[in-house]
Amino acid sequence: MQEIDDAVTALRGGHLCVLPTETVYGLGANALDAGAVRRIYDAKGRPSFNPLIVHVSDMTAAQQVIAAVPPAAQALAEAFWPGPLTLVLPRRPELPTAITAGLETVGVRAPSHPVARALLEAAGVPIAAPSANRYTRVSPTRAEHVLSQLRDRVDLVIDGGPCAVGIESTVIDVSGATPTILRPGSVSRAALEAVIGPVALVSAGGTPLGDAPRPSPGLVDRHYAPNARLHFVAAGAVDEAERTLRALRTSGRVGFVSHSAHMPEAHLTLRLPADPVGYAQALYDALHALDEAHCDAAVIERVPDGDAWEGVADRLRRAGSSHGNGDRR
Ligand code: TXA
Ligand code: MG
Repeated sequence: MQEIDDAVTALRGGHLCVLPTETVYGLGANALDAGAVRRIYDAKGRPSFNPLIVHVSDMTAAQQVIAAVPPAAQALAEAFWPGPLTLVLPRRPELPTAITAGLETVGVRAPSHPVARALLEAAGVPIAAPSANRYTRVSPTRAEHVLSQLRDRVDLVIDGGPCAVGIESTVIDVSGATPTILRPGSVSRAALEAVIGPVALVSAGGTPLGDAPRPSPGLVDRHYAPNARLHFVAAGAVDEAERTLRALRTSGRVGFVSHSAHMPEAHLTLRLPADPVGYAQALYDALHALDEAHCDAAVIERVPDGDAWEGVADRLRRAGSSHGNGDRR
């Protein structure tokens, strides 16, 4: 495939390549090339204290970047790779420090998207790739989302269609005594515990919820934000939603994101599936649509509590927490 050949040439030459994965699009560089990795931070406008995920074909290829494979990591890779699960493991010392932001660990993931897999096979090097968005902006789940943010900053974008999962991978730290979820995603805590037993969870503010977790750099900064200020209402709460919309409409364009049958009048009304898998798949597209429709605010129906919704709930919390203090890093 010509696109894969071109991408291999780009990666080998130290250039950046946007690749589709099953979660979100990634902004990739050869993970073993320190100069190329630095270019990722420049293109994203991302501070270098935020570590990158390294993509590999499988656990054998991961040996190029990790120093050890604890039994829990092996078990999780067997259960969930290729797929939307990132394992944080002890790093090899020769790995460019820019990837890990100076940490002694590195996040590795074997993606399941056929294009990502073909590229990893053909390139023969691990690919460092954060989500292919500008820092603090919503991650891309379609090639068009990438182009609107990074068009002039990348050498090549491979269009692999819409991403099937739609939110970033679950990140679990298996480098210490207690496996700890650093970022919830579509692989749920229950699914992880079914394989390795008790797992701790770090909350969105970086506050430990379980025993002895470490903070994750990606959890303390502000992320995933559309330009619109988000207001949450209970699902199906018609009166509350109408009242909130009326108040907001006086000062600008307002969107409404529903997953119930309630579809009120707004500048843009989006209906997302009522199940967590379908909702995750559609969420970032909806947030990008709010931006494209120049919404100043959006009213979003709260999603249910519970393990299956944790990844989506986490992204909504972060998308909504980026306003109010003038901090739009
Ligand atoms: O689904 C995904 O994971 C996507 C696709 C492209 O694979 N990638 C992605 O990368 O979301 P990024 O760079 O946007 O998010 C990386 C996050 C960091 O913010 C941090 O939370 C966590 O992964 N992470 C990576 N390495 C880590 C480490 N050594 N220790 C702790 N957390 C780490
Ligand atoms: Mg990201």
